[in-house]
Amino acid sequence: MSELRSRAVVLSFMMSAGLAFAQTQVNTAIVFQNPLAIPPLIDPAAENGEKVFTLTLQKGEQEFLPGKHTATYGVNGPYLGPTLRLHTGDQVRMKVTNGLGTATTIHWHGMELPAVMDGVYQVIEPNSTWEPYWTVRNQASTLWYHSHLMGQTGEQVYKGLAGMIIVDDDNSDALQLPHRYGVDDIPVIVQDKKFDSNGQFIYQPQVDSRAGPQGFVGDTILVNGTYAPFLEVPRGWVRLRLLNGSNGRRFNFGFDDNRAFYQIASDGGLLVAPTEEKRLIVGPGSRAEILVDMADGKPVRLMSFAVRDADHAASSVAKFFLNSFRADADEDQEFKILEIRPTTETGLSAPVSQHLNSIPRPDPRLAVRTRVFTMDRDSRINGQKMNPAVVNQIVFKDDVEIWQIVNQSPNYHTFHVHDVQFLVVDRNGKAPEPSDQGWEDNVLLYPGDHVRILVQFKYYTDPHHPYMFHCHILEHEDMGMMGQFVVVEKGTKNSQVSVDPAYINVFSHNTDMRP
Ligand code: C2O
Ligand code: CU
Ligand code: CU
Repeated sequence: MSELRSRAVVLSFMMSAGLAFAQTQVNTAIVFQNPLAIPPLIDPAAENGEKVFTLTLQKGEQEFLPGKHTATYGVNGPYLGPTLRLHTGDQVRMKVTNGLGTATTIHWHGMELPAVMDGVYQVIEPNSTWEPYWTVRNQASTLWYHSHLMGQTGEQVYKGLAGMIIVDDDNSDALQLPHRYGVDDIPVIVQDKKFDSNGQFIYQPQVDSRAGPQGFVGDTILVNGTYAPFLEVPRGWVRLRLLNGSNGRRFNFGFDDNRAFYQIASDGGLLVAPTEEKRLIVGPGSRAEILVDMADGKPVRLMSFAVRDADHAASSVAKFFLNSFRADADEDQEFKILEIRPTTETGLSAPVSQHLNSIPRPDPRLAVRTRVFTMDRDSRINGQKMNPAVVNQIVFKDDVEIWQIVNQSPNYHTFHVHDVQFLVVDRNGKAPEPSDQGWEDNVLLYPGDHVRILVQFKYYTDPHHPYMFHCHILEHEDMGMMGQFVVVEKGTKNSQVSVDPAYINVFSHNTDMRP
């Protein structure tokens, strides 16, 4: 090839790649005409000192788009589920009945609880009831619950098997923060979908020939299952509990008038202090709470602005690569999400608390060991896919450890760990950004990133029932981008660790992962 010709090829290749990067405003024409659905709060029954929540998983039908009836899954209703409000120290029991006609599980994402209550291996067969119970150890936070059936999590969550959990504690009870549920303290479960012409959900994850399996991305946004939603709020501080309930999409939250907002919480708890931001990227599976000041009485739209991997590249070489050669499926798209309309009612306008929480600075010198987790483009962690018979990591209770997560692939991933809230020590060798300085259970890794987190499992041990770590892009998770670990008492020998044989059969639900 002549030099001229090869240059032309490179140039045209880069131009075509460049075209793919043109930012698309996906739903500019949207008219916000539907009142935002607020998931009902369940009133738990009090039985033997426990708060008992009854959850019925059911098939349903919902009119998201006018005149179209979409087949869905839901909990106590057609789509998504009620919000569970818990308090630290509560003894809770969930009565989860499966009316779906197909097997499922329900996992309590972010909860610190015994492995047998975690809701991964605890398959709920049709018409049966599962009754996990535990003491709430988590601090005030926004968590969630969702299907976690091996190999089918993506599809079941997409159909609607998810809901929010709000934990309060003595600290949060005493803070000056908006706390009127559905009034100035708003659950905001954001999901992207694709609909066919009959209004049915389309779920077709894509595999890119060069970049590997992609997380599902849709072109239509639902908030709490409402299409084109608006929300009326009092004039004052409004707290949005943002939950990225998408399968694979990141959201870059902000407002269309570029007003600043204050992040007050990450996945697993309140930040030390409100942090002023104009953009906030939340990966799939993660949560963030923000305060926005609506005292000016002007309506505003919550947006998701473009996410561009190259803007977060760990090095200039990576930046060049990411700018030139490919895009993650969710890049460069901008969405309007929710119109917020202040009414004439006055809300909380006094200054909010400036000290919200005490969080220890993550001190890597406390760590007694480092484990490395390498995520690759073929949905493997440390070169392996999930194998139910294998315990990938054995962790001693109370040990402080560094888990170093390396994203070797040209895709972004997240790294979620069950049964723990962790702290980010550093990202690409640098101290974490303020929004990354709180308790997290799911950390976003841009292509090429390496992130060190400090983990400590404080409460439960069980040498035969593992917990999971995995990418929270549900398509990656379903393809086996997951591993398992047990937490054991110090001194437990490797030979004393084994997976409960009953667990291994659970994988008969997943043809890809059948041992
Ligand atoms: Cu949100 Cu293992 O899950
Ligand atoms: Cu989880
Ligand atoms: Cu992934």
